[in-house]
Amino acid sequence: MPNSPFLPWNPQQVQDEIDALKHEPGALLPILHAIQDRCGHVPREAVPIIAEALQLTRAEVHGVISFYHHFRTTPPGRHVVQICRAEACQARGSRALENHARETLGIDYHQTTADREITLEPVYCLGNCACGPSLRVDDRILARVTPEKFNRLVDELTTQVLEVS
Ligand code: FES
Repeated sequence: MPNSPFLPWNPQQVQDEIDALKHEPGALLPILHAIQDRCGHVPREAVPIIAEALQLTRAEVHGVISFYHHFRTTPPGRHVVQICRAEACQARGSRALENHARETLGIDYHQTTADREITLEPVYCLGNCACGPSLRVDDRILARVTPEKFNRLVDELTTQVLEVS
Protein backbone atom coordinates (compact mmCIF):
# COMPACT_ATOMS: atom_id res chain seq x y z
CA MET A 1 0.00 0.00 0.00
CA PRO A 2 1.68 3.32 -1.03
CA ASN A 3 2.48 5.62 1.91
CA SER A 4 -0.13 4.00 4.12
CA PRO A 5 -0.47 5.63 7.55
CA PHE A 6 -1.05 2.14 8.98
CA LEU A 7 1.40 -0.56 9.97
CA PRO A 8 1.26 -3.99 8.40
CA TRP A 9 -0.26 -6.36 10.93
CA ASN A 10 1.78 -8.97 12.70
CA PRO A 11 0.80 -11.44 15.41
CA GLN A 12 3.15 -9.97 18.01
CA GLN A 13 1.63 -6.51 17.71
CA VAL A 14 -1.84 -7.99 18.09
CA GLN A 15 -0.64 -9.91 21.15
CA ASP A 16 0.86 -6.71 22.61
CA GLU A 17 -2.49 -4.91 22.29
CA ILE A 18 -4.28 -7.86 23.88
CA ASP A 19 -1.79 -8.06 26.76
CA ALA A 20 -2.18 -4.34 27.45
CA LEU A 21 -5.98 -4.45 27.57
CA LYS A 22 -7.22 -7.95 28.31
CA HIS A 23 -7.69 -7.42 32.05
CA GLU A 24 -10.00 -4.45 31.58
CA PRO A 25 -13.74 -5.05 31.84
CA GLY A 26 -15.26 -5.34 28.37
CA ALA A 27 -11.79 -5.70 26.88
CA LEU A 28 -12.90 -6.90 23.46
CA LEU A 29 -13.95 -3.51 22.05
CA PRO A 30 -10.85 -1.62 23.24
CA ILE A 31 -8.67 -4.39 21.80
CA LEU A 32 -10.44 -4.23 18.44
CA HIS A 33 -10.12 -0.44 18.39
CA ALA A 34 -6.42 -0.62 19.25
CA ILE A 35 -5.73 -3.15 16.50
CA GLN A 36 -7.66 -1.14 13.92
CA ASP A 37 -5.94 2.10 14.96
CA ARG A 38 -2.61 0.42 14.42
CA CYS A 39 -3.30 -1.66 11.31
CA GLY A 40 -6.24 0.19 9.73
CA HIS A 41 -8.40 -2.92 10.03
CA VAL A 42 -8.88 -6.03 12.13
CA PRO A 43 -7.19 -8.81 10.18
CA ARG A 44 -9.03 -12.13 9.95
CA GLU A 45 -5.91 -13.81 11.31
CA ALA A 46 -6.20 -11.79 14.53
CA VAL A 47 -9.59 -13.26 15.41
CA PRO A 48 -8.38 -16.63 16.80
CA ILE A 49 -5.64 -14.88 18.80
CA ILE A 50 -8.17 -12.52 20.37
CA ALA A 51 -10.70 -15.30 20.96
CA GLU A 52 -8.19 -17.48 22.77
CA ALA A 53 -6.89 -14.63 24.93
CA LEU A 54 -10.37 -13.59 26.04
CA GLN A 55 -11.77 -17.14 26.23
CA LEU A 56 -14.40 -16.37 23.63
CA THR A 57 -15.35 -18.33 20.54
CA ARG A 58 -14.18 -17.10 17.15
CA ALA A 59 -17.84 -16.64 16.22
CA GLU A 60 -18.33 -14.30 19.17
CA VAL A 61 -15.40 -12.15 18.10
CA HIS A 62 -16.57 -12.19 14.47
CA GLY A 63 -20.05 -11.23 15.66
CA VAL A 64 -18.80 -8.09 17.39
CA ILE A 65 -16.61 -7.08 14.44
CA SER A 66 -19.48 -7.44 12.00
CA PHE A 67 -22.01 -5.73 14.31
CA TYR A 68 -20.10 -2.45 14.42
CA HIS A 69 -19.79 -0.68 11.04
CA HIS A 70 -16.69 1.02 12.39
CA PHE A 71 -14.55 -2.10 12.14
CA ARG A 72 -12.93 -3.01 8.83
CA THR A 73 -11.79 -6.49 7.93
CA THR A 74 -9.66 -5.43 4.96
CA PRO A 75 -6.96 -2.76 4.78
CA PRO A 76 -8.25 0.70 3.80
CA GLY A 77 -6.70 2.97 1.20
CA ARG A 78 -4.23 5.72 2.03
CA HIS A 79 -7.12 8.06 2.93
CA VAL A 80 -10.50 7.21 4.44
CA VAL A 81 -13.42 9.46 3.45
CA GLN A 82 -16.53 9.05 5.57
CA ILE A 83 -19.78 10.75 4.54
CA CYS A 84 -22.38 11.43 7.21
CA ARG A 85 -25.69 9.69 6.48
CA ALA A 86 -27.54 10.80 9.61
CA GLU A 87 -30.75 12.81 9.51
CA ALA A 88 -29.50 16.39 9.84
CA CYS A 89 -26.96 15.94 7.07
CA GLN A 90 -29.56 14.22 4.90
CA ALA A 91 -31.80 17.28 5.31
CA ARG A 92 -28.89 19.36 4.05
CA GLY A 93 -28.17 17.34 0.93
CA SER A 94 -25.93 14.45 1.94
CA ARG A 95 -27.81 12.02 -0.34
CA ALA A 96 -26.78 14.02 -3.41
CA LEU A 97 -23.24 14.23 -2.05
CA GLU A 98 -23.14 10.46 -1.55
CA ASN A 99 -24.25 9.85 -5.11
CA HIS A 100 -21.69 12.32 -6.40
CA ALA A 101 -18.91 10.71 -4.34
CA ARG A 102 -19.75 7.20 -5.55
CA GLU A 103 -19.87 8.34 -9.14
CA THR A 104 -16.69 10.42 -8.94
CA LEU A 105 -14.64 7.74 -7.21
CA GLY A 106 -16.24 4.83 -9.11
CA ILE A 107 -16.75 2.87 -5.90
CA ASP A 108 -19.49 2.19 -3.38
CA TYR A 109 -19.31 2.34 0.40
CA HIS A 110 -16.77 -0.01 1.98
CA GLN A 111 -14.74 -0.06 -1.22
CA THR A 112 -11.34 1.39 -2.14
CA THR A 113 -10.29 3.04 -5.38
CA ALA A 114 -8.15 0.89 -7.66
CA ASP A 115 -5.08 3.04 -6.95
CA ARG A 116 -5.56 2.39 -3.19
CA GLU A 117 -5.80 6.12 -2.51
CA ILE A 118 -9.32 6.48 -1.09
CA THR A 119 -11.70 4.25 0.87
CA LEU A 120 -15.31 5.44 1.05
CA GLU A 121 -17.34 4.74 4.19
CA PRO A 122 -20.68 5.85 5.67
CA VAL A 123 -20.78 7.35 9.13
CA TYR A 124 -23.73 8.24 11.32
CA CYS A 125 -23.20 11.74 12.77
CA LEU A 126 -19.92 13.52 13.16
CA GLY A 127 -21.22 16.02 15.71
CA ASN A 128 -21.25 18.71 13.04
CA CYS A 129 -24.99 18.61 12.34
CA ALA A 130 -25.65 22.34 11.86
CA CYS A 131 -23.06 22.57 9.10
CA GLY A 132 -23.91 19.59 6.91
CA PRO A 133 -23.41 17.87 4.69
CA SER A 134 -20.42 16.80 6.74
CA LEU A 135 -17.65 14.38 6.00
CA ARG A 136 -14.51 13.21 7.72
CA VAL A 137 -11.33 12.64 5.81
CA ASP A 138 -8.77 10.84 7.93
CA ASP A 139 -8.75 13.00 11.12
CA ARG A 140 -10.33 16.15 9.67
CA ILE A 141 -14.04 17.02 9.59
CA LEU A 142 -15.25 19.14 6.68
CA ALA A 143 -18.52 21.13 6.71
CA ARG A 144 -21.02 22.19 4.03
CA VAL A 145 -19.49 19.84 1.49
CA THR A 146 -20.76 20.51 -2.01
CA PRO A 147 -19.93 18.33 -5.02
CA GLU A 148 -17.42 20.99 -6.10
CA LYS A 149 -15.75 20.97 -2.69
CA PHE A 150 -15.67 17.18 -2.81
CA ASN A 151 -13.92 17.30 -6.18
CA ARG A 152 -11.30 19.68 -4.80
CA LEU A 153 -10.80 17.39 -1.83
CA VAL A 154 -10.21 14.38 -4.07
CA ASP A 155 -7.73 16.38 -6.15
CA GLU A 156 -5.89 17.43 -3.02
CA LEU A 157 -5.84 13.95 -1.52
CA THR A 158 -4.44 12.45 -4.66
CA THR A 159 -1.84 15.20 -5.12
CA GLN A 160 -1.04 15.51 -1.39
CA VAL A 161 -1.73 19.26 -1.15
CA LEU A 162 -4.27 19.47 1.67
CA GLU A 163 -6.08 22.81 1.56
CA VAL A 164 -9.85 22.17 1.65
CA SER A 165 -11.38 23.14 5.00
S1 FES B 1 -26.08 14.50 11.25
FE1 FES B 1 -24.27 14.72 10.10
S2 FES B 1 -22.89 15.51 11.54
FE2 FES B 1 -24.63 15.10 12.72
